[in-house]
Amino acid sequence: MDTTLARGLKDVVLDTTESSFIDGEAGILLYRGYSIHDLAAKSSFLEVCYLLLHGDLPNVKELEDFTNRLTSYRTLPPEVIEVIRLTKDAHPIDVLRTAVSAVATFDPDVTLDTSDPVGSRESNVRKSERLTAQFPTMVAAHHRIRQGLDPVAPRSDLSHAANFLYMLEGKEPSPEAVSAMDLDFLLHAEHGANASAFAARVTASALSDMHSSIVSAIGTLKGPAHGGAAEAVQKMTSEIGTAGKAHDYIRAKLDRKERIMGFGHRVYKAEDPRARHMRDRAKSLGEKTGHSEWYEILIAVEKEMVPYQSRGIFVNVDFYAGAVYALLGLPEDLFIPIFAVGRIPGWCVEILEQYDNNILIRPLLDYTGPKSLEYTPVEQR
Ligand SMILES: CC(C)(COP(=O)(O)OP(=O)(O)OC[C@H]1O[C@@H](n2cnc3c(N)ncnc32)[C@H](O)[C@@H]1OP(=O)(O)O)[C@@H](O)C(=O)NCCC(=O)NCCS
Repeated sequence: MDTTLARGLKDVVLDTTESSFIDGEAGILLYRGYSIHDLAAKSSFLEVCYLLLHGDLPNVKELEDFTNRLTSYRTLPPEVIEVIRLTKDAHPIDVLRTAVSAVATFDPDVTLDTSDPVGSRESNVRKSERLTAQFPTMVAAHHRIRQGLDPVAPRSDLSHAANFLYMLEGKEPSPEAVSAMDLDFLLHAEHGANASAFAARVTASALSDMHSSIVSAIGTLKGPAHGGAAEAVQKMTSEIGTAGKAHDYIRAKLDRKERIMGFGHRVYKAEDPRARHMRDRAKSLGEKTGHSEWYEILIAVEKEMVPYQSRGIFVNVDFYAGAVYALLGLPEDLFIPIFAVGRIPGWCVEILEQYDNNILIRPLLDYTGPKSLEYTPVEQR
């Protein structure tokens, strides 16, 4: 058998997809054929969710119906709030993972039939819509409960992003905050066979159900090489303190052979096309709130990393995302769950595609251990 070792599945094409296109050399990202720059400038997160889950941009009526459906799905069963209460001391991303397991029990489309846990395509689209609507409520309810506060009930008159910030803070957010949050969700919505979407596809490929596949994705997103980078960047920014100290800080880190979080990408060998939008928001929110120091530190760090561009190491979307979240007043341990709130439609569409044309994902491993050891009974060892 002709086999090639491809560690980390680098440069391996897993399958075909119609949901997103990435040209890593040119720094291009399209959602179903639409440029991320056009969508970032003109669209909204919910419109992009519709585009991903239903195949094309909605007309006015379709968007209205979709928005109404998702709004009606925002409230969680009280039992799920109770599970969140019981696990409140865990990291928010672990609570989200647990809440997804819990909410599966109450999803009207979840089946107990282990001979067909997947169900119909329509039922999986409905599950996708429910999960997209429920994620913000889960994250916000936990954030309130862990502070000793009551969860804030979702409001049907607020947009997806506005309602999320409202449920977190208990007060209506500013238009700038809503716009930045919506943009952040939109930019994170889908990204091909990234590690968490791949994990979701592996679970789905075994013909397991959508909620289980999403749990796999959340567990993968938690890793610092994937969803944890924004939090790490914000910690680094705080450690640097002022733009003038960036040079020495970054030099020392690189001399110790440490990685600079928010730089480098498995696929992009040019600037991540999403980064410029977050960079602009970090700048404008910094000016608006009178806290431009984070933006200035990040710009100084980016300058230090210019020599790495010749090695294909550029800034990625997470580099400025942390500053945007911090400027919105969001604590660092919510950064990964916020990524998940943006990424949920992308995970769902990857799972739907996997179900539509399923093949079990099961690679090989190249065994490098011994092959002719002789077994000795335990008492003789
Ligand atoms: C994202 C990431 C895991 C992709 O890694 P990858 O494609 O597997 O690339 P590798 O880990 O093989 O790195 C290739 C080389 O670039 C270097 N490199 C990669 N990212 C780097 C970074 N952020 N800072 C410094 N050097 C970096 C590696 O040290 C390695 O150098 P070497 O060949 O001398 O050993 C990696 O760039 C990284 O760890 N970045 C920081 C975390 C981050 O921002 N993640 C969010 C991604 S959206």
